[in-house]
Amino acid sequence: MTVTEETAPASHYDRIGGASSVKAAVELFYDKVLVDPELAGYFSDVDMVGQRRHLTLMLTTVLGGPNEYTGRGLAEAHQPLNIPVEHYAKVGEHLTVTLTELGVPADILADVQTVLGQVQDQVVARENRSGA
Ligand code: HEM
Repeated sequence: MTVTEETAPASHYDRIGGASSVKAAVELFYDKVLVDPELAGYFSDVDMVGQRRHLTLMLTTVLGGPNEYTGRGLAEAHQPLNIPVEHYAKVGEHLTVTLTELGVPADILADVQTVLGQVQDQVVARENRSGA
């Protein structure tokens, strides 16, 4: 068996260029989320370091990057924020636009959509879920 065959397939995180690319994406994403009048309020009491940390963790999570996060679970962190589906969708849109602008390949974008669908119920407030 060759070395190549033994190597696990590269994650999306690796394919887009790892930590430095995520850092660049966070800058762009930050400019979109935090100037969006409907979303900025969620972060007004969160310090700058916390905001960047949030966006980095969010991107790393949806790109299947290294799971080095040991903080609160997604539901625990977001349920108290009472986030409606519309705001979740807006953040997802900003993320998709950011990754498109950075030239992220279509198959990765498709998987990002899938992950956004999978974690939605943890982030959107229980009482705001459709059919809840
Ligand atoms: C895929 C979707 C998301 C992921 C993976 C994600 C990830 C995270 C994580 C891991 C934390 C905990 C950070 C910590 O405790 O240090 C967090 C906190 C937070 N998230 Fe999200 N998030 C998502 C969506 C959203 C959305 C849609 C909003 C607002 C509309 C939002 C606003 C916040 C805020 C305000 C905090 C608290 C930050 C703090 O107190 O430091 N998140 N998020």
